Amino acid sequence: MSYNLLKGKRGIITGALDENSIAWKVALRAHEEGAVFVLTNAPIAMRMGEINKLAEKTGSKIIPADATNMAEIEKLFTDSVEHLGGKIDFVLHSIGMSVNMRKDVGYTELNYDYFQKGIDISALSFHKMLAAAYKLDALNEYASVVALSYMGAQRTYPFYTDMADIKAMLESIARSFGYHYGLKKKVRVNTVSQSPTKTKAGSSIKGFSEFYDFAEMQSPLGNASAEDCANYCVSLFSDLTKMVTMQNLYHDGGYSSTGVSQEQLNALIEKQK
Ligand code: NAI
Repeated sequence: MSYNLLKGKRGIITGALDENSIAWKVALRAHEEGAVFVLTNAPIAMRMGEINKLAEKTGSKIIPADATNMAEIEKLFTDSVEHLGGKIDFVLHSIGMSVNMRKDVGYTELNYDYFQKGIDISALSFHKMLAAAYKLDALNEYASVVALSYMGAQRTYPFYTDMADIKAMLESIARSFGYHYGLKKKVRVNTVSQSPTKTKAGSSIKGFSEFYDFAEMQSPLGNASAEDCANYCVSLFSDLTKMVTMQNLYHDGGYSSTGVSQEQLNALIEKQK
């Protein structure tokens, strides 16, 4: 169902790799809600070609940009403003990658080159996007910038290795830049802390499937799906959340506030029998 929440709004959506990507669902929902936007991803990710299908479905232009490269990010903003015919109202940062996690390197023996790469791709890219928009004055007043995060920023999970530290940085950037951009132009900056979701990035985490079930058991509403996340992002891009900024917002079916669920306890009781 469409509420025309984003009618007349222009956006930039990063990170749609395939139809499982959270960004993919956000693009579909934003389109339904009347937004026009540019899709972007790293040139290397474009080779899969899946994004062309999304561009066709949503009538969007694709502008490739490596999110670690400042010149490419600046070009992304300049070209998007030109193509969409005005300044930008919303930006989705949906970019994450840890080489340590991919190569199964444990937290106590992290490879620092990989660590730096992870920081560059998954956290500094957010600062770079905000800094490019700020410098070019590419966003409208009350524009909404959202990045996707995970609870590993607050609590320790053995499998989340360096991404825990990287997500903590991402959330801090939202607060810090949110302050400066709020003062300068009333731009809002938030992170959404999403449930485990079955995507390419999610599934690259060792033990993801077991953990997915664990989180499902702990959340009174169950895990939030990528579609649910898209709905939440759309609400944050809309004018209905105009005074929300510098927040890390949990979108996890109640997981983050639950100590232990009865279902988890029952499983332990069964084990002790
Ligand atoms: P995904 O694998 O579909 O998306 C990750 C995207 O990052 C891909 O499109 C990839 O091409 C892009 N990317 C990687 N390096 C890049 C670069 N140098 N420049 C530009 N783009 C680059 O996976 P998913 O799950 O949709 O991830 C999106 C965001 O959601 C990430 O920040 C992830 O950490 C976050 N998240 C995911 C959860 C999950 O369980 N899947 C849970 C909570 C947060």
